[in-house]
Amino acid sequence: EAGRAGADLPGASTLITNIGALVTNDATRGTGPLGLITDAALVVDGTDVAWVGPRAEAPATDRSFDAQGRAAIPGFVDSHSHLVFAGDRTAEFNARMSGRAYSAGGIRTTVEATRAAPDSALHATAGRHVSEALRQGTTTVEIKSGYGLTVEHEVRSLAVAAAHTDEVTFLGAHVVPAEFAEDPAGYVDLVTGPMLDACAPHARWADVFCEQGAFDADQARAILKAASARGLLPRMHANQLSHGPGVQLAVELGAASADHCTHLTDSDVDALAHGDTVATLLPGAEFSTRAAYPDARRLLDAGATVALSPDCNPGSSFTSSMAFCVALAVREMGMTPDEALWSATAGGARALRRDDVGTLSPGARADLVLLDAPSHVHLAYRPGVPLVSAVWRAGRCVV
Ligand code: NIG
Ligand code: FE
Repeated sequence: EAGRAGADLPGASTLITNIGALVTNDATRGTGPLGLITDAALVVDGTDVAWVGPRAEAPATDRSFDAQGRAAIPGFVDSHSHLVFAGDRTAEFNARMSGRAYSAGGIRTTVEATRAAPDSALHATAGRHVSEALRQGTTTVEIKSGYGLTVEHEVRSLAVAAAHTDEVTFLGAHVVPAEFAEDPAGYVDLVTGPMLDACAPHARWADVFCEQGAFDADQARAILKAASARGLLPRMHANQLSHGPGVQLAVELGAASADHCTHLTDSDVDALAHGDTVATLLPGAEFSTRAAYPDARRLLDAGATVALSPDCNPGSSFTSSMAFCVALAVREMGMTPDEALWSATAGGARALRRDDVGTLSPGARADLVLLDAPSHVHLAYRPGVPLVSAVWRAGRCVV
């Protein structure tokens, strides 16, 4: 298609026109919290959105692309993934589907395989999953380390992540590795000392898995404070498998996001509603571990900011599909299709403290997904159907 090829030329302005229903996530540009514009058009200039509005008012441009009435949304913003890994946990999944419970201990299986893998294999796997996500409309993805768990292997994991994204997270505190099983305090000393020294220059964020069987509140606090002192911004795996102190600690530390939020007390919900920490829900994990879903409705009704992410990892949630999470959030977690779409785009951007993605306001990065559907509601209405018809990332048509 001539229009599509034109959109690939850097620096040229391109009109994407005849968009049946455009989600901008900019309430000043359209109706409702999604800033919805029907019969819309959008101008891409270089890497950014230059103009958005009703088709009839569109300015003249160098070239145009006819969306033929399809819906368009901002690219999905996935704020939580574990894509630097090797090996496979099909056997663990099979055992779970025969009745065994999920446990954090499975992480060590992937640690062993990851340490044994050459750099090239880690790069290839991460790249494959980033492309897989992009084809499904995800234009921003955060990637964590956490399957290395030595100084050398955590640095290596972060280098692999950095080759695929700007949103790199140090998760040296994923679990206590087997060689420190008798000395968890010694592992925390390693993480807060030499490992952080080596890893901090390679990451933007620091994360801790705060959970029984992983790290307790005192350890998590010590690790995130040490990380903050070295310039990393905190986020946390919190309240995934049980009630616990993670969510309140995340809010206390000013974490950008508390991730999972599956087991929440009223005071946890209250803390999220009044603090600055996004509640990131990862329903792929509950789906793949046969666990009860987090209650998004309760969080939204209390006034919390909710993000969605697939949590792509080889253990608890081996999916890269944000659309699948949107469908789960609507069907199982009490979200409306509009709320779920917002959480998968603008919500993810909030969880990464970004305002250049997750929205299609003028000045935002031109990350746009065209859907083979008349509106974004079809993402939940037609679960499992590959509706992504084209993807622009930073103004380039990449799918
Ligand atoms: O987000 N909760 C900890 N980390 C991952 C699971 C990692 C694994 O099982 O390998 C999660 O679910
Ligand atoms: Fe995770």
